[in-house]
Amino acid sequence: MAYMLRSARYLSHDVLKEAVQKGDTVIDATMGNGHDTLFLCELVGEEGRVIAFDVQQQAVDSTREWLKENGMLDRATLYCKGHQHMDESGVQDAAAIVFNLGWLPGGDKSITTLWETTKVALEKALSLLKKHGVLLLCAYPGHPEGDRERSEVKDFLASLAPQQYNVLHQKFLNAGPGAPENFIIQKQ
Ligand SMILES: C[S@@+](CC[C@H](N)C(=O)[O-])C[C@H]1O[C@@H](n2cnc3c(N)ncnc32)[C@H](O)[C@@H]1O
Repeated sequence: MAYMLRSARYLSHDVLKEAVQKGDTVIDATMGNGHDTLFLCELVGEEGRVIAFDVQQQAVDSTREWLKENGMLDRATLYCKGHQHMDESGVQDAAAIVFNLGWLPGGDKSITTLWETTKVALEKALSLLKKHGVLLLCAYPGHPEGDRERSEVKDFLASLAPQQYNVLHQKFLNAGPGAPENFIIQKQ
């Protein structure tokens, strides 16, 4: 089958397939409806662990159902809590941490990620990554808060010391100004 250049978010799945090994511990910082959480559960295998966060009980419930339907619930710990508290989960040495910013698809658009808490979460996430671990972030600049958040995320990540982190920025240049943007960070 021909290789397809898909959405920015799916490009990050290609990176995760390479970076995550069976038995790893990983974090889904924005579980939403659990699609990324399930993908991560498949990658870490039976011995691995996925720790996932969302501020909405609706997201936690729908993720729990989705994982249960797919027989993966025992690999995940789901917190109804903001990702800015991810250090309280006791995780250290995460192989991957995934942020998919914005609001819950099909949910309340007024409950969206905000730069102020995203910044705290990013700082903590970087400290929880193991050597060569990856942080993947997808930002959606198609609405005012999303655009502000994307711009702050970009400035923050651009300021990371190159001796400590590799930072990559991807976007489809001809997809219009609101197209999602991907950031991939690897700890050296
Ligand atoms: C685009 S959705 C995530 C979609 C998800 N990755 C999936 O595969 O279905 C963004 C989610 O971030 C959540 N969110 C907003 N603020 C948050 C915070 N401070 N901590 C964790 N999650 C947050 C929203 O409730 C929403 O469910």
